[in-house]
Amino acid sequence: MPVTAMPVTAIIVAAGSGSRMGEGTPKQYRTIAGKAVLAHAVDALKSHPDVNSVRIVIADGQEITAQAALNGRDVEPFIVGGATRAASVANGLAGIENGGIVLIHDAARPFCPHDVIDRLLGALEEAPAAVPALPVADTLASGAERIERMADRKGLVRVQTPQAFRVDALRSAMATAGATDSTDESSVMIAAGFKVAIVEGDPVLEKLTGPADFERAEALQLAFLAPRTGFGFDVHAFSGSGPIMMGGIEVPHERGLAGHSDADVVLHAITDALLGTVAEGDIGQHFPPSDAEWKGASSDRFLAHAASLVAARGGVIDHVDCTVICEAPKVGPYRDAMRQRVAEILALPVSRVSIKATTTERLGFTGRGEGIAAQAVASVRLPQ
Ligand code: CTP
Ligand code: MG
Repeated sequence: MPVTAMPVTAIIVAAGSGSRMGEGTPKQYRTIAGKAVLAHAVDALKSHPDVNSVRIVIADGQEITAQAALNGRDVEPFIVGGATRAASVANGLAGIENGGIVLIHDAARPFCPHDVIDRLLGALEEAPAAVPALPVADTLASGAERIERMADRKGLVRVQTPQAFRVDALRSAMATAGATDSTDESSVMIAAGFKVAIVEGDPVLEKLTGPADFERAEALQLAFLAPRTGFGFDVHAFSGSGPIMMGGIEVPHERGLAGHSDADVVLHAITDALLGTVAEGDIGQHFPPSDAEWKGASSDRFLAHAASLVAARGGVIDHVDCTVICEAPKVGPYRDAMRQRVAEILALPVSRVSIKATTTERLGFTGRGEGIAAQAVASVRLPQ
């Protein structure tokens, strides 16, 4: 069967503890440019048109952390890994049908260009396994305090992941090897006598091992993101009796607000600002007032939807800022609770959410107490 007709399953191993990165959250759950390393890796593989499914292998007890890192992405149930990378890979491979292809990838390599996957799948037409690799540029030597011996770098390459295998061949090699602590599966294939093809790797596939790797990856990633700003504006008229919803919380007020949904001017203005950053129309287009489904709807759904559109484009939200315009109610006492709630909906630190308020000195419709207006700006960074 030609490789192009075979199902391709990606396994992302993320069950390590990241000990060389130092104390704190394991490296696969830390963020680069506002997005978890694991989420970068999942997006990179899942978005390739030939990849049919993605399996994520995590350490026992890390389900909630992994779920949070993936921030609402639709993924298959997690697989629990083992004490070594090899054991984690074995668990990830269990149940995958023979006759297909598997791509085994380290979560610690968050960026994987599609053309590397193209080259790997191409190479599998001729070989049961293929790996991306780069030449060694530095002089090689052995020794700790002083050089003991120079090594010949001629013909040496640095092997990266994802590594691609015909499932049957990999299974047979793993059975021959038995329990192993090898750091990748190409070693297992070679030990079992299989041919492993080399395709050109990519410097962005470098593995995150120590803290310096993180700083470099963050700088590189940010350089690829372009800033965008979106603007939002909303007005609701007073009608009936309060309380009102503002910034996702209930605010006591003698008057209520008229609206098809819960009439939350702050969330509506911020939602439109976020939609503006990705040029995805406005709130009315996504949630038409003519649609009975949105009658009385809680506006946090609208805001979460706008944030998901930014995330789907690989973007990160840097900051949102909203000004509420009204004579009453007073916003000050509720400002921090609103910031907390908006930050929670957008999965941002509260320091990146600002809520301000002003009156219009009794001028205009807000000054006459006929309603409340809100303006918002959102700053995001998007892949160019
Ligand atoms: N890995 C795994 N299961 C293990 C060990 C490692 O799934 N028992 C994964 C890691 O999560 C990582 C990849 O294998 O995505 C490469 O391993 P490495 O860079 O060594 O990561 P860690 O083992 O987490 O880091 P360290 O060796 O510094 O502790
Ligand atoms: Mg390790």
